[in-house]
Amino acid sequence: MTKIISIANQKGGVGKTTTSINLATSLSAVNKRVLLVDADPQGNASTGLGLSYSDRNPNLYDLIVNETFYQNAIKNTLVPGLDIITANTNLAASEIELANIKKREFVIAKILSKTNSYDFVIIDCPPALGLLTINSLVASNSVIVPLQSEFFALEGISSLIDSIHLIKENFNPQLVIEGILLTMVDKRNSLSSLVEKDVREHFGDTVYKTTIPRNVKISEAPSHGKPAILYDVNCSGSMAYIGLAREIINKQGATNE
Ligand SMILES: Nc1ncnc2c1ncn2[C@@H]1O[C@H](COP(=O)(O)OP(=O)(O)O)[C@@H](O)[C@H]1O
Ligand SMILES: [Mg+2]
Repeated sequence: MTKIISIANQKGGVGKTTTSINLATSLSAVNKRVLLVDADPQGNASTGLGLSYSDRNPNLYDLIVNETFYQNAIKNTLVPGLDIITANTNLAASEIELANIKKREFVIAKILSKTNSYDFVIIDCPPALGLLTINSLVASNSVIVPLQSEFFALEGISSLIDSIHLIKENFNPQLVIEGILLTMVDKRNSLSSLVEKDVREHFGDTVYKTTIPRNVKISEAPSHGKPAILYDVNCSGSMAYIGLAREIINKQGATNE
């Protein structure tokens, strides 16, 4: 059984791509077969995994236009067991093209129905609630919402949760919130601790016990075209993402019993 997880929050800069790359890598490190789908026209997940522009043909945009490209669109990464469907700026045009397609909410779901050789598919969503994010959520079993531990963390989350409910009601009854992940946590900063307390009071057990610390190694890694876990496995950020993967696998084990 393949589990498809979207990493979504319509705010930019909250850690979606960082979480997609490092969670996918951590799951691969414990011998899971993982496919990362870069669904953001910025293509940051593709860059962060070392795929240059010339390595990105065909990519998600090509698949949206013509799904028969599927096999050729699956690229290996430097992480053993981790494959990727890449993105580049041409994906931005798909927001317009999707609008004219019949069953336009189900295009990515149809593409990903071919992914049965993976344990996990992780979709890195763009910072918007447009058709690419809707398509990703329609294709998914669940969604992880990264929240940056700062004052405006909860701003916008109610419209995201409303969208998730609408998608559940109209297109994908199985969709659940897998978890809320606090990112860029700074334990020395009292505001960061207050935000964490607030989020936990609001969302209870939906919030992962694991939090991701603010860590410079995490932000350096993409410029080397590597996940943090390959760049420095011992840094606090890498350890946190490995812990998150463990928490997700354990939670899954508990619900399957
Ligand atoms: N835990 C972290 N510690 C330090 N920097 C981080 C951390 N997580 C993300 N960043 C940095 O913050 C910026 C935004 O993160 P990113 O994952 O690209 O967010 P999004 O995909 O939501 O836009 C990037 O420059 C990234 O390297
Ligand atoms: Mg991103």
